[in-house]
Amino acid sequence: MGSGTSTLGRVKVAEVRERLLFWYREAKRDLPWRRRRDPYATWISEIMLQQTRVDTVIPYFERFMERWPDAQSLAAADPDLVRAAWSGLGYYRRAQLMLRAAHTVVAEHQGHLPKDLEALRALPGFGRYTAGAVASIAFDLPTPAVDGNVCRVLARVYGIEGDVSRGAPHEEVWKAATQLAPGEAPGELNQALIELGALLCTPKSPKCLLCPIATPCQARAQGRTDQIPPPKKARKTRPK
Ligand code: ADE
Repeated sequence: MGSGTSTLGRVKVAEVRERLLFWYREAKRDLPWRRRRDPYATWISEIMLQQTRVDTVIPYFERFMERWPDAQSLAAADPDLVRAAWSGLGYYRRAQLMLRAAHTVVAEHQGHLPKDLEALRALPGFGRYTAGAVASIAFDLPTPAVDGNVCRVLARVYGIEGDVSRGAPHEEVWKAATQLAPGEAPGELNQALIELGALLCTPKSPKCLLCPIATPCQARAQGRTDQIPPPKKARKTRPK
């Protein structure tokens, strides 16, 4: 079965892909890590973006890339200087794991990130999302990358009910993302989902009138974008 005939529920995969890519190429923000086609830059940006806003990350990313432009220089870096450069981004453990990964990349992969999902996943600090993001964005491997934004977007498009941040609904989101990934430009496709979640498909008051996939969107069709996914407070089953 080709992607042209594949459907997830009632939503056509090929149509969603095509609309997302067309929109992303016009609407994407000009972000420094999108100007480079360098797996190392993708990696550093994805680690910084894990728990920190895009606007905050930009100057840190630029300084970091100037100071440590590749895995070799990062592996040789004085950890105290890395800590100082990270100061203000928070969650310093991310940087500690990143340094450990840089050592592994130099010791085991000749200084270059491996072009392989499983090998990426084995590196310190590479969870399911980060491995998928680097594999698709840096290497165009047809793998999904589901972060909080993508979870919300896909829950709405495919009408996935329940708390999509965990359990069976979360796996359903990953399944939907897995079906979307293969095809032209998987990295751009994943970034289109991230961008849509950041710019239009926001938690409150999504801008459906501007959305490239409003037509196939199940939550929109049902008039339930305020319930899919359920607002965070409503997810709690027990009082604190
Ligand atoms: N958040 C996580 N990854 C991102 C990316 N590549 N671009 C913008 N925001 C992101």
